[in-house]
Amino acid sequence: MSLRKIVIAIDGYSACGKSTTAKEVAKILGYKYIDSGAMYRAVTHYFLEHYVSLTNPKEIANALDGIKISFHINEDKETETFLNGMNVEKEIRKMKVSDQVSQVSALKPVRTAMVHQQRRLGKDRGVVMDGRDIGTVVFPDAELKVFMTADMQVRAFRRQQELLEKDKLVDLMEVMENIHMRDKIDTTRAESPLRKADNAVGIDTTHITLDEQVDEVIRLAISRILKVSF
Ligand code: DC
Repeated sequence: MSLRKIVIAIDGYSACGKSTTAKEVAKILGYKYIDSGAMYRAVTHYFLEHYVSLTNPKEIANALDGIKISFHINEDKETETFLNGMNVEKEIRKMKVSDQVSQVSALKPVRTAMVHQQRRLGKDRGVVMDGRDIGTVVFPDAELKVFMTADMQVRAFRRQQELLEKDKLVDLMEVMENIHMRDKIDTTRAESPLRKADNAVGIDTTHITLDEQVDEVIRLAISRILKVSF
């Protein structure tokens, strides 16, 4: 029996636990983990650093030509994001980037460039990718699609804790406003808006623990792997 490798797409709203779940699932299955949001964050960081005007198509195209994003695993086995060879993992998690990333990721040329890179990263399958349009646009043929949701207060609190672990104290209202603003832009933009793929499995993480989220996705993944393996 040979077990086929599948693509697992985990989409959903900001701060629902997508990346934490995706990372764990990838570790358990021995799959590659790709944080597509980190790619949009890296582009946003570059645009901010180089004062790229979001209304100037030529500047955007030139900037995108000069951007190379890659992922590396550090000593603690955590994935870190590199932009043109520089580790930007810390920079891209700052509120300055969070405040702009939805505007930048709504731009068509930015999406085209990122989707191209994401498909290349997942071409051999055996990948868990989280984002907003993975099951709908990047890998519409993904064998497993998950769509995560959770109540706003819970999401804001979890994101605040995450920032706190990185020594960043941001008040709950600011976190909530940022999440609310990103939800609005991500779901209403013209280019591949966030929506649940028809064949995605919905998971509401409001009242469940991280372990339960991971168990559920692993259970679903195994059933899909066994289905495509014979
Ligand atoms: O997953 P995240 O919160 O780090 O993502 C940051 C932003 O990137 C999010 O607000 C919308 C955008 N994004 C996107 O448009 N498409 C994706 N596949 C992933 C993220």
